Amino acid sequence: MKISTLLTGVTISLSTIALAYTNPVLWNDLADVDVRNVNGTYYYSASTMHYSPGAPILRSYDLFNWEFVGHSVPNLADFGTKYNLQNGQRAYVNGIWASWFDFNQHDGKWYWGGCIDFARTFIYTASKPEGPWTRLVDFSTCMYDSGLLIDDDGTPYVSYKSGNFYVAQLSKDFKTIVSTKLVYTLPSDIASCEGTRPYKRDGKYYIFTDDPSTTIEYVLMSSNGVWGPYTKGTLTNGARGPVTGVSNPVQGSLIKANNGQWYYMCFTSAYPTGRIPVLAPLNWGSDGWPSIQLVNGNFGTTYPDPETAHPVPAYTGTDSFSGTSLGNRWEWNHTPDTSRFTVNNSLTLRTATVTVDFYSARNTLTQRIPGQSATATIIMEFGSMLDGDRAGLAMVRDMSFWVGISKDNGIPQVRVVSGINMDTTWKTVSTGATAAIAPINGTTVWLRAKANVAPSSDRTAQFSYSTDGTTFKNIGNTFAMNTDWRFFLGYRFGIFNYATSVLGGSVKVRSYDVQASGYVGGGGGTTLSLTDAVSPQNSGAAASSLVSPLYG
Ligand SMILES: *[C@@H]1O[C@H](CO)[C@@H](O)[C@H](O)[C@H]1NC(C)=O
Ligand SMILES: *[C@@H]1O[C@H](CO)[C@@H](O)[C@H](O)[C@H]1NC(C)=O
Ligand SMILES: *[C@@H]1O[C@H](CO)[C@@H](O)[C@H](O)[C@H]1NC(C)=O
Repeated sequence: MKISTLLTGVTISLSTIALAYTNPVLWNDLADVDVRNVNGTYYYSASTMHYSPGAPILRSYDLFNWEFVGHSVPNLADFGTKYNLQNGQRAYVNGIWASWFDFNQHDGKWYWGGCIDFARTFIYTASKPEGPWTRLVDFSTCMYDSGLLIDDDGTPYVSYKSGNFYVAQLSKDFKTIVSTKLVYTLPSDIASCEGTRPYKRDGKYYIFTDDPSTTIEYVLMSSNGVWGPYTKGTLTNGARGPVTGVSNPVQGSLIKANNGQWYYMCFTSAYPTGRIPVLAPLNWGSDGWPSIQLVNGNFGTTYPDPETAHPVPAYTGTDSFSGTSLGNRWEWNHTPDTSRFTVNNSLTLRTATVTVDFYSARNTLTQRIPGQSATATIIMEFGSMLDGDRAGLAMVRDMSFWVGISKDNGIPQVRVVSGINMDTTWKTVSTGATAAIAPINGTTVWLRAKANVAPSSDRTAQFSYSTDGTTFKNIGNTFAMNTDWRFFLGYRFGIFNYATSVLGGSVKVRSYDVQASGYVGGGGGTTLSLTDAVSPQNSGAAASSLVSPLYG
């Protein structure tokens, strides 16, 4: 249903209108998609590199409204001491890369697996996606860019890349590697491939993969069992993303929806946000080859809803750190020092590191930036800071900046520091410089960051602060965000507290509030909103953004 038809065709009954979701289906940094339909509910796993807990799990009932329900990797400390961000060690951009996740109906358990540091393959398991997740096994071989297929008889097969394509058969309890075989040799006309996703349909075996240098997506197919031989077909070649300023979508996951239609959820690079999911219907030819339902050769901006919209709790809003544990959207920069923070109807951050380097400070707590533009505000009590302490709200990436309270010579001040930079080996090359400073009285401050993270936006962030929660004053200039892809993960909002002189100080963060001012997610109610003030699903896409161009 075209919008123009709707505006003029006033006699059309709402019940005849096909509702559509919008792409990118979720504006959030969740790359290396593995989506599964488990008993009618959809689950989504993604990469998190050096953030802990890692490998978030999202849940959806319609494929376009998603909520965070847990993490498959409870603690990156399992991967080695460098994940603790201590003693000069760091693991930026290491950790969780493309990995796999599924429910095994043969034993009723959930499994996650991935190669860490190009060296070892870890598998975690849980009886519920919400956890608790525990480490099951740690193989001393790297199954790089791996994917999981559980065959009809319950045998797990892991596909992976090591120049060429391999399949490893695991024991049914996932604890041992039974055998491994080279199943496909990369032809000389393909430079390299990344991401492997194995599937079985109608007795045929498939491995989905892509060449990052050309963004051509390939499908390998075997009519002869899991071990091949496989022949290569092309899934997409040059299909552009659904909005301007993003890369061609790649490295997807296959989903059979509850209505019987197949879908492909892949991701597109959209810095400074990061890598965000795109959902498109997929059809099968009578010869067994799949094809994506493109629109004029590119990924469509809208497609009909796969299901009736099923809204989930909003991503946006205020987190008051109620209870004694953190919500599912929070991830620490590296493994946190749990002795240095407390959640108890507020978040207390005791300084965990003495350093002048923001990137060496432990216990920075982060969240992805929801939507194309968002504003985060924290309320922070700073009366227990010590001289030399720095605490506040940061824009975190390999080029970072923050607004916070610095305390020196007994005097707290509001400070903005910018130019905190790492090089592409993730060593700190600049600890930043003060960009603005202001006096403050009292012991409570509201710190705010507004960030425009859509590639088509001005890609800047502006800090402000308040002492009453009502009147906010801009502080410092707007900062341009880094859009280089090599850090992989996009910008995050981060709450931090570190010491430059001595441990012992603390801050209490009463709340974190995040509001989106741009497009956040697919909605699934695009046409309906013209005639009915239904609140857009996926939390926060302003109703007005549905009748004006979503992407400016
Ligand atoms: C699948 O869903 C049905 C109906 O909601 C439920 O009874 C059953 O326990 C579920 N099975 C699993 C494995 O979750
Ligand atoms: C949380 O704070 C309350 C009130 O101060 C206190 O009674 C309780 O013991 C605290 N709980 C934990 C787990 O620290
Ligand atoms: C702090 O309080 C003093 C005394 O009331 C006042 O003179 C000063 O202007 C205040 N400074 C700020 C930044 O509010």
